[in-house]
Amino acid sequence: MTITPWWRDAVIYQIYPRSWADSDGDGIGDLPGITARLPHLAELGVDAVWLSPFYTSPQNDAGYDVADYRDVDPVFGTLDDFDALVARAHELGLRVVVDIVPNHTSSEHPWFRSALAAAPGSPERARYLFRDGLGESGELPPNNWPSKFGGRAWTRVTEPGGRPGQWYLHMFDTSQPDLDWTNPEVRDEMQGVLRFWLDRDVDGFRIDVAHGMVKADGLPDADVDDDDSVSPTSRLPMWDQPGVHEIYRDWRRIADSYAREGEDADRILCAEAWVLPGEALARYVRPDELHQSFNFEYLMTPWLAADQRETITHSLEQVAAVGAPQTWVLSNHDVVRHASRLGYPQQPGLQKIAGIGPDDPQPDAVVGLRRARAATAVMLALPGSAYLFQGEELGLPEATHLPDDSRQDPTFARTGGASKGRDGCRVPVAWEGGDPSYGFGPGAQSWLPQPAEYGALAADRQRGVVGSTLDVYTTLLRLRRERRLGRGELTWLDGHPDDVLAFTVTSDEGAVTVLANLGATPVELPEDAVILATSSDIEPVRLLGADEAVWLDA
Ligand code: NOJ
Ligand code: MG
Repeated sequence: MTITPWWRDAVIYQIYPRSWADSDGDGIGDLPGITARLPHLAELGVDAVWLSPFYTSPQNDAGYDVADYRDVDPVFGTLDDFDALVARAHELGLRVVVDIVPNHTSSEHPWFRSALAAAPGSPERARYLFRDGLGESGELPPNNWPSKFGGRAWTRVTEPGGRPGQWYLHMFDTSQPDLDWTNPEVRDEMQGVLRFWLDRDVDGFRIDVAHGMVKADGLPDADVDDDDSVSPTSRLPMWDQPGVHEIYRDWRRIADSYAREGEDADRILCAEAWVLPGEALARYVRPDELHQSFNFEYLMTPWLAADQRETITHSLEQVAAVGAPQTWVLSNHDVVRHASRLGYPQQPGLQKIAGIGPDDPQPDAVVGLRRARAATAVMLALPGSAYLFQGEELGLPEATHLPDDSRQDPTFARTGGASKGRDGCRVPVAWEGGDPSYGFGPGAQSWLPQPAEYGALAADRQRGVVGSTLDVYTTLLRLRRERRLGRGELTWLDGHPDDVLAFTVTSDEGAVTVLANLGATPVELPEDAVILATSSDIEPVRLLGADEAVWLDA
């Protein structure tokens, strides 16, 4: 019998370490906090956790600015705490995926400090993308690239002698200088980092900005009018350059060399690559490259039946062409939570995802949550692997009323407040409804203020409550696992109204038919339908209302 590797249908739960559980009361989540709460995930029924960065960092971009790739930031704990977390997770049957941030370091990284202290043209500078400026005295940036966080992607340095000097590239914040991946030293260093964490027993990596490490030769100007979050990135000189694939072939060999003893023992690599179209993204998951890549096109697809059908269909075809599984994701730490995102009127075409402030139009919370649960019921039936973001199993909405002076995402300041940034999805989660900080930690404070609605949505208010969002997730995850839907085949069903997504997923272990009503008109269920699970709290349902989904025995 051939073994199907675990990652082909794994459900992977993202923990944002600052915001999941705080053990020491400083208002910031930490590794011991996570370890103590892991049983929640075993009960929920996920296969793995992915931890966003917890490495030594000045935290200018919440840890995506790494100053030491081989240590834990004191705010999160110690390497011993990390080892204890991994051991406990493995004991509970949960695998552990960690983030790697190879596109840029923090400006506090010893490499960047020594680059600043060294001269133009030095080996220290050659690890980064330092260039002379344009204009008579080099006063203009070397090209027109914008930073993803607003403003330009270049900062000019003051040379050790005190005169204005070269510029360095940073696709994100000024404090996140991009590395030069044509430099073999950079490649060796990051391979060493992979080995360091593999030796500490991690089960895989999520690769930050996986489409960004290689830039087009000569760093040519870009067509900056392009919004690369929703349009094809393949022709922009800073994203999705062919050279990046060679890096991943090397990394795959390393991951494979660390496969554990026995069966189903892979360590995995998953790309965070905002690459369109899906055919270009599928190149990242060719057999000798990465195992998975996030399907952000799915995340950006509106809650409209035609759009959903189209995205799901071509997403499956595109990865099938290279023999990889698809991944599905609705929320993460960079986007508006889907319980709020879907609370807006839906328009055809991919949806841009920006932060929400108190003065912006507010999402309809009731509609948003109903759709979010239905969307999750669709997602968890789909063949492939699924990623969940902490708190979505509680139906947490985006925090849309954060005061500006609490905002910490650098995009807020870099855009002069034009973009509210991503803090709204990063607010600490709620565990116990009655406690200060809703059980997030022993202190009353949390690093971002929690909305009052979080109290009623706390995990303890939902555990064991039939029809709660937590109950819906737990039920769907159990059925998904029992029937091995992630390893199944999807068949669209005819004979349903256009606004209804109707499909069956069949694996060797069983089948489920999913009906999701994305229209306004209630739809009668087939008379003989046996209901296994519903996205809404109405049992028994013979009528499928607007924005409701049901799993039927098939
Ligand atoms: C993607 C990460 O998900 C995001 O949070 C971060 O700001 C950027 N990469 C830069 O590292
Ligand atoms: Mg703490």
